[in-house]
Amino acid sequence: MSTESQPSGREPSDWLSLRAQYDARSRSVALAEQWVTYWQEQLRSDGAVIDLACGTGTNLRFLQPLQKVDTSWVGFDNDSRVIDLAREQSAHANCEFIELNLADQLRAVPIDSAIAVTTSAFLDMTSVSWLDRLATRLASKPFLAAMTASGPLQFLPTDPLDATIGDQLAIHQTSDHGFGPSIGVGAAPYLADRLRGQGNEITIADSSWRLTAADADLQRFLVKSIGRRVRGMSPAIGIDRWISNRMDQIDADELVLTVPHCDLLSLPADRRNR
Ligand SMILES: C[S@@+](CC[C@H](N)C(=O)[O-])C[C@H]1O[C@@H](n2cnc3c(N)ncnc32)[C@H](O)[C@@H]1O
Repeated sequence: MSTESQPSGREPSDWLSLRAQYDARSRSVALAEQWVTYWQEQLRSDGAVIDLACGTGTNLRFLQPLQKVDTSWVGFDNDSRVIDLAREQSAHANCEFIELNLADQLRAVPIDSAIAVTTSAFLDMTSVSWLDRLATRLASKPFLAAMTASGPLQFLPTDPLDATIGDQLAIHQTSDHGFGPSIGVGAAPYLADRLRGQGNEITIADSSWRLTAADADLQRFLVKSIGRRVRGMSPAIGIDRWISNRMDQIDADELVLTVPHCDLLSLPADRRNR
């Protein structure tokens, strides 16, 4: 749900710290371990691991403990507020954070000399042309993209307004988030095809959030946030009744909300020859 990354009424950094625990429990540890193992086997003294759109550093802090040999990490993000928090929260780790607009400065990221590349909760807000540019830089790099939005929200029990709400959210998700029209939930399959075409070996794993009664606080937050967004886009569709019904279901421990995501691992073609 990365294009819901800055729900109205909430600071971006608050949202990133709220979602971090759900990402940690949902993402594929198996793919993360394969990615780390791959590049730990061929560590050089120079070069760093690069985290694109690092936010407050959540992805980096999830992955760093998996490494057996310490290496340098560099995170890039265009938001100075989250970069400041990343620096504070990762003060003792071997990493630095650089403010950079990836939409028009991807070429300034030293991917060619990097050991490996990662990102989290980001690709769906980019565009086809940006992913094309990224793919060409990743042919010889181990790449892990966690928590890419991969489908419409699923509510149980269903409500007659769910489909209309899903349509409105899709319009928002595929609007321009700075990279041209966003690719949205097509991001992971599109990039997978591009990387496969270059000979890279691709694995995709489900990393959806499955929010049940134990996650009532996040359910309430998401229902309110969706309500605000849809009311702003389409005031006439009767969103208040939908919000009120959903809140009643949350209070009665009856709502199950699935937020689809996937993780993508891409390993260079030369791994078969090593
Ligand atoms: C949903 S957040 C994910 C942050 C982090 N990867 C995580 O998993 O918590 C998306 C991030 O993309 C960053 N972002 C959006 N547009 C960007 C751009 N043009 N250049 C660099 N970063 C950007 C935002 O500032 C935000 O930190």
